[in-house]
Amino acid sequence: MQRPAVVGAAGKREGGAAAGRRAVQRPTAGGLCSGRREGCAAVGELGTKRVAEEDGAANMSDSSRTIPPELLPSEDLHPLPMPVINLGHLSLDSATRYRVVDDVAKACRDLGYFQVINHGISQSVMDCALEAASDFFKLPSETKEKFASEDLRRPVRYDTSSKDSISMPRAFLKHYAHPLSEWIQYWPQQPPIYRKYMGKYASEVRMVALQLVEAIVEGLGLGKEYLNEKFHEGSQVLSVNCYAKASQSATTIGLAPHSDHGFLTILLTSCGGLEVVDPSSNIWKRVQQLPHALHVHIGDHMEVLSNGRMKTVVHRALLNPEEARISIASIHGFALHEKVTCAKELVDEENPPKYKESSFSDFLDHLTANMDNKHRNFLESLRM
Ligand code: OGA
Ligand code: NI
Repeated sequence: MQRPAVVGAAGKREGGAAAGRRAVQRPTAGGLCSGRREGCAAVGELGTKRVAEEDGAANMSDSSRTIPPELLPSEDLHPLPMPVINLGHLSLDSATRYRVVDDVAKACRDLGYFQVINHGISQSVMDCALEAASDFFKLPSETKEKFASEDLRRPVRYDTSSKDSISMPRAFLKHYAHPLSEWIQYWPQQPPIYRKYMGKYASEVRMVALQLVEAIVEGLGLGKEYLNEKFHEGSQVLSVNCYAKASQSATTIGLAPHSDHGFLTILLTSCGGLEVVDPSSNIWKRVQQLPHALHVHIGDHMEVLSNGRMKTVVHRALLNPEEARISIASIHGFALHEKVTCAKELVDEENPPKYKESSFSDFLDHLTANMDNKHRNFLESLRM
């Protein structure tokens, strides 16, 4: 099997055993929960209503517009190596930070995705969040369906599938997570561990997102502090997904191709299944499952802010043939009504603004207005 490429502080991509070893971190002792990770209840039996689309996810981006993403070829057999960033190096000396910022910027420009290790979230916090999610999906349908709603603006929303008619074997719970003190009161009280464990993960993953956003804007040449306040006051949506195990006869698609609306998404998953479109070859790439790593990809609003220098990532989830799968996507954007524009520093005569301004709220309006459309695309609607 190919080893993942690790982008070290030296900025070099390293393969081989050393890189593999470096990627592995020890879970911290004395976890908050048992660390037990089980699959979810059979999703097929859940709920009857098919409500709404993804309030964290826009539909497919233009990068695969010529060929429908469903028809793009997949890579053979083994996942290709993908950049791995050691986030701890961001807080070392300035020369080291500079190199990591450069690695992050390069990954965002060339691919739009990478993984992070040494991110400061302990294995037990990650396991507990997955366990809380898994336990929620095991609850009786009536309990979960109390959160079902057609209104995309509800702070918590549960459904068993999107209306795209592809994503059938999936249940999801979406909720706002920042500011936590404002939203946590709406989160499920069952299972009893849910608020505590998901809340802890939500606030820790937000810290990772803020560090990454700082590195990305610095890598764009905008300075580390660029829009700092707006990012700190920004929104965080957790999309908690539960996919059934793939069965022989049913579809293998758990979540249809789409891009996420925010600046960036950080994804924690219980096992493999995520695929991203590789922008240079236009093939589906399976995302490697590294111990203790988090997957990161950029979203529509980063494409807008960077005035097209960075492209949103089209991704999908396949059902895992071995086991049911839990994923927690943390989507980070500006506050609901705060407009995102192309950074004026990245606009000049040769590079006129490519996108209209828009907010998270505009995105929700777009989804609501396009509820019956199969291929609604938010980013496309912003293009000038
Ligand atoms: C999402 C998403 C991928 C996954 O929730 O927006 O892309 O692997 N999830 O569940
Ligand atoms: Ni997504």
